[in-house]
Amino acid sequence: MRFPLEVVEAVRAVWPKDRPLGMRITGRDWAEGGIEVADAVAFARALKKIGVDFVCVTSGGLVPDAKIAVGPNYQTPFAEAVRREADIPTRAVGLIAAPRQAEAIVAEGKADMVALARAFLDNPHWAWAAARALGAEVAQPPQYQRAGLRNWPAAFERD
Ligand SMILES: Cc1cc2nc3c(=O)[nH]c(=O)nc-3n(C[C@H](O)[C@H](O)[C@H](O)COP(=O)(O)O)c2cc1C
Repeated sequence: MRFPLEVVEAVRAVWPKDRPLGMRITGRDWAEGGIEVADAVAFARALKKIGVDFVCVTSGGLVPDAKIAVGPNYQTPFAEAVRREADIPTRAVGLIAAPRQAEAIVAEGKADMVALARAFLDNPHWAWAAARALGAEVAQPPQYQRAGLRNWPAAFERD
């Protein structure tokens, strides 16, 4: 852990105290004798101690023969364990793509935040669609408001 902890200490020293500092860590590397979630918990505890505010828990294909059990939420249990055992806010990531799936992870206390990568590459307006699906209002730039569904004639409704 020495190298990343030294890097974080250097970053924290210059990053404003009132701005959050997060770090992405490996929850498991799926390799025999490799990084396990207990290692991630120990690392997260050390990061918390030196002023990291949250960790994003992913998992790594660090070696070619890693056998990764990919599926929806497949890395969320790592975020959940780190949150519970290291007592640090966590962000879950990895095959989170549906609004209700994302919402459930936070609502059920498995993570404090979720991160989406490919879903956002596929649809950069994912958050707006998710807000609509979950019945929430989000701010839009004024020039986009004219495109909001409620401003469209019913015949043009898309969903
Ligand atoms: C084009 C692309 C680039 C990525 N680059 C990085 C990266 O630089 N660092 C990193 O930690 N993860 C990177 N990732 C992984 C994503 O951050 C994310 O963890 C992964 O895609 C799983 O989330 P998803 O199922 O929502 O896509 C990248 C993913 C994609 C698709």
